[in-house]
Amino acid sequence: QLYRHAFYDGSATQLSELPEDNGMEVAFAGRSNAGKSSAINTLTGINALARTSKTPGRTQMINFFRLDSQRALVDLPGYGYAKVPEKMKLRWQQTLAKYLETRQSLKGLVLLMDSRHPLKEFDLQMLNWAKQASLPVHILLTKSDKLSHGAGKSTLNAVKQQLLKAELPASVQLFSSLKKSGRDQVIEVLDQWFDI
Ligand code: GTP
Ligand code: MG
Repeated sequence: QLYRHAFYDGSATQLSELPEDNGMEVAFAGRSNAGKSSAINTLTGINALARTSKTPGRTQMINFFRLDSQRALVDLPGYGYAKVPEKMKLRWQQTLAKYLETRQSLKGLVLLMDSRHPLKEFDLQMLNWAKQASLPVHILLTKSDKLSHGAGKSTLNAVKQQLLKAELPASVQLFSSLKKSGRDQVIEVLDQWFDI
């Protein structure tokens, strides 16, 4: 299966270093420590594919994981990492916005948010940029293993309500890399975006 054959295919620190803009890619974005790299590992079933860390800000480059000649997953650096100087934060935000707006290959955005702290300011910013770019978004409420079944359900509903109210289109689900739960649901979305 496609996702299980993913392999690391290079990194970029700025947009000019990105691979050629052809084919299809799906990007994983979210605040530092939200679980982006872990999710990529869970989805591919390859534990050490994307580097994860207890220290927020681990992923500082745009990392490409190729699935086949046409398709790739992109692990984006987390935003909102407290220890990064304000100037660098702003620069990274501009880079992100431009990537979302201009990247032709980008078919969808997986937005990860810790299920205990969903929809923070910059998450909403990302959702707005994606909306402007007509880019479909699928939200993963991560680390759902930290919530009881009931709390997970009510968080899911609350986030859906908030998105409706703000008129921000996105699908939402609970996800846990620890429990490996929610994988099939994500794959279904990726398959659609990747035209599979
Ligand atoms: P940056 O690269 O710094 O932006 O972080 P990231 O979003 O890639 O997060 P990463 O996958 O490195 O995970 C951050 C921390 O959260 C690590 O200590 C992970 O082990 C932990 N973590 C990730 N997913 C889960 C999960 O589903 N459940 C629990 N309990 N912990 C998780
Ligand atoms: Mg990471």
